[in-house]
Amino acid sequence: MATALITGSARGIGAAIALRLAKDGYNIALNDISEDMFEGNDIMDKIKAEGVECEKFICDVSDYAQVEQTVKAIKERFGSIEVLVNNAGITRDGLMARMSEEQYDMVVAVNQKSVFNMCKFVGSMMMRQRCGRIINLSSVAGVYGNPGQMNYSATKAAIIGMTKTVAKELGSRGITCNAVAPGFIKTPMTDKLTDAQKEAMINQVAMKRYGEVEEIAGVVSFLASPDASYVTGQVIEISGGLMM
Ligand code: NAI
Repeated sequence: MATALITGSARGIGAAIALRLAKDGYNIALNDISEDMFEGNDIMDKIKAEGVECEKFICDVSDYAQVEQTVKAIKERFGSIEVLVNNAGITRDGLMARMSEEQYDMVVAVNQKSVFNMCKFVGSMMMRQRCGRIINLSSVAGVYGNPGQMNYSATKAAIIGMTKTVAKELGSRGITCNAVAPGFIKTPMTDKLTDAQKEAMINQVAMKRYGEVEEIAGVVSFLASPDASYVTGQVIEISGGLMM
């Protein structure tokens, strides 16, 4: 049975993607930064209820050495990784003039370097397998920019360049690499915004509502499926019609 690794999957969009890929029949390698993230949360039980195998691998995806060890451990447990979803991400918002160097560097490490770390180690395994699907979580902030998110939008734009590069480097080995760029999705990350910020966002959305995590998971499922076998290097916006 094929295996999918989803980073940052204890909650939010990552958990929804993990559950959807379990429904699609993949064994699931969950990942998050600490054991605490899984406490009081039933994602593992929900996935196992789909009749697939599931295990969690605690690792800071921004740490090169930890990622190398984790990918090895997943290979030992499941034998292979057919689908990699680079979902882990953080925000440390602030206007550029007030943004600290630490705020900038932290977001780059977690959102951007993690994609290099994971693509490098999982990508090597996929090259030997001569098949694989890599799906990266970008954002509309990376396509259009967003005030207060110079760090975050930089990383999400970088992910688009990384996606196209990986698609070009690994395409001849039967590996596809695509990105999804969600708009305003209801998760703990967006719950942190003020009511005024939320209202301003919704007003720009053609569909006048937040997206649900399942609406991201559905597109990721398509990109991992045989129907998307000739789709690579693409960025699919899932934003309810933001900024058309
Ligand atoms: P979230 O904050 O609910 O979940 C992110 C998960 O990543 C958490 O479980 C967190 O513990 C984990 N994580 C953070 N740092 C990590 C690290 N160093 N190593 C391993 N795991 C780590 O966020 P959400 O909203 O589910 O976002 C998921 C992805 O989707 C992110 O990449 C985010 O940038 C992207 N996205 C989200 C949007 C939204 O509206 N919620 C819009 C556009 C993109």
